[in-house]
Amino acid sequence: MTATDLASVIRSRAGTDPVRIGLILGSGLGHLAEAVDGVAIPYTDLPGFPHAGVSGHNPNLVIGDLEGVRVAVLGGRSHYYEHGKPDAMRLPLEVLKDLGAEALIATNAAGSMVPEMKTGSIMCLTDHINFSGLNPLIGEPTDARFVPMMDAYDPDLRAALLAAAKATKTEMHQGIYAWYSGPSFETPAEIRAIRMLGADAVGMSTVPEVILSRFLGLRCAAISTITNMAAGMSDEKISHSHTKEMAPLGAAKLETVLRRFLSEF
Ligand code: HPA
Repeated sequence: MTATDLASVIRSRAGTDPVRIGLILGSGLGHLAEAVDGVAIPYTDLPGFPHAGVSGHNPNLVIGDLEGVRVAVLGGRSHYYEHGKPDAMRLPLEVLKDLGAEALIATNAAGSMVPEMKTGSIMCLTDHINFSGLNPLIGEPTDARFVPMMDAYDPDLRAALLAAAKATKTEMHQGIYAWYSGPSFETPAEIRAIRMLGADAVGMSTVPEVILSRFLGLRCAAISTITNMAAGMSDEKISHSHTKEMAPLGAAKLETVLRRFLSEF
């Protein structure tokens, strides 16, 4: 099914009012989808949407109202490490665009490389480093593939998120996110290398979706919840179960900021 066909199926189930914002929920952040007053459509009803590959994700598309804004919440994403396809999120993002979304807000779980940015913190992305060398637009035949990545993390959206954090007295760091393909975690030497390159947090997602969203003309913002200090930064253990266990610490802050942001959008 094409994005247009899928968008028609979704409209027939969730109503035809245009969506304004698309939200992607990262590991352990799925509960925000339950706060939306709307209709949940399982990905299994939407051919081409990612299969429920990663535990801690909730594979539904939820369309409805959150703080007075019509949102489309993707309760889980596809990661490159699941199948080796960097463009696996292209169809769901095309569908968001077709449903009317102006902006994408991506969330993720990440490891911190900044000693002061501890487990349980949140970080608003100012930029990214594509440490994987992969790109979801490889193979795109049109000149539209040459997407400028200046201001990929939209300055107005970032300012609004920061204002929302300030208004709710929620500490939110800002920093640069490095995409590492996974699924193995980084070695301490890799973390030292990425730190030297200028990254503040590291994770296995978000960058392909932001590239695809800029390609589609969506404005983007992204927030990481810090679930661990990156390899070699502390003696904290690093594992997927630790990620899922720690995500709720930052998730509460993230929800506070997002709700305030939406109420002013
Ligand atoms: N590295 C990569 N991805 C992650 C990490 C990490 O330390 N923590 C959560 N996701």
